[in-house]
Amino acid sequence: MLLTQEEIAARVQELGATLAETYAGRLPLFVCVLKGATVFLSDLMRAMRIPVEIDFMATSSYGLSTDSSGVVRILKDLDHAIIDRDVLIVEDVIDSGLTLHYLYEHLRARHPASLRMVTLLDKPDRRTVSLTPDWCGFHIPDRFVVGYGLDVAEHYRNVPFIFVPTPLAIHRATHTAE
Ligand code: IMP
Ligand code: MG
Repeated sequence: MLLTQEEIAARVQELGATLAETYAGRLPLFVCVLKGATVFLSDLMRAMRIPVEIDFMATSSYGLSTDSSGVVRILKDLDHAIIDRDVLIVEDVIDSGLTLHYLYEHLRARHPASLRMVTLLDKPDRRTVSLTPDWCGFHIPDRFVVGYGLDVAEHYRNVPFIFVPTPLAIHRATHTAE
């Protein structure tokens, strides 16, 4: 077990309060990176007492592997135009930083009024590109984790807490997905 339901809920409430202050009087667009960040997004947006809009992007993931291929591909782009919008990228975990670095540059080219990033989890030891999110829920050690939206081969996303899967659990998840 790495983070309990209660620890996650308390931190998400804090982040929601901070973001509501930052975006008071604005109508921010939260851009959720599918699929891992959906659980975080749904709790975070309900922790905000100001109106927000949401949109989704999908990038190529690690597939069945637990190591980054380093290749980022956009599989689904935004439905909304973001010019002059206050955009917040909502991510589940920053590992190498490649995904977020790429998305950040991709969205910045569309001239939003502001562009910020919030991540639930950050593994700063794993960074291969320089990137610091504006807000982070928790810094975690260099371990592969699942639960609360995070998966291994699509398993464990619905587990309400975050944990380090055993090698056997990873093996089982990757083999039933084949
Ligand atoms: P990055 O591009 O290396 O920063 O990887 C970010 C993406 O990799 C995240 O959005 C996740 O989808 C995935 N990822 C990285 N670490 C983990 C992990 O510990 N568990 C599950 N997915 C992870
Ligand atoms: Mg992700």
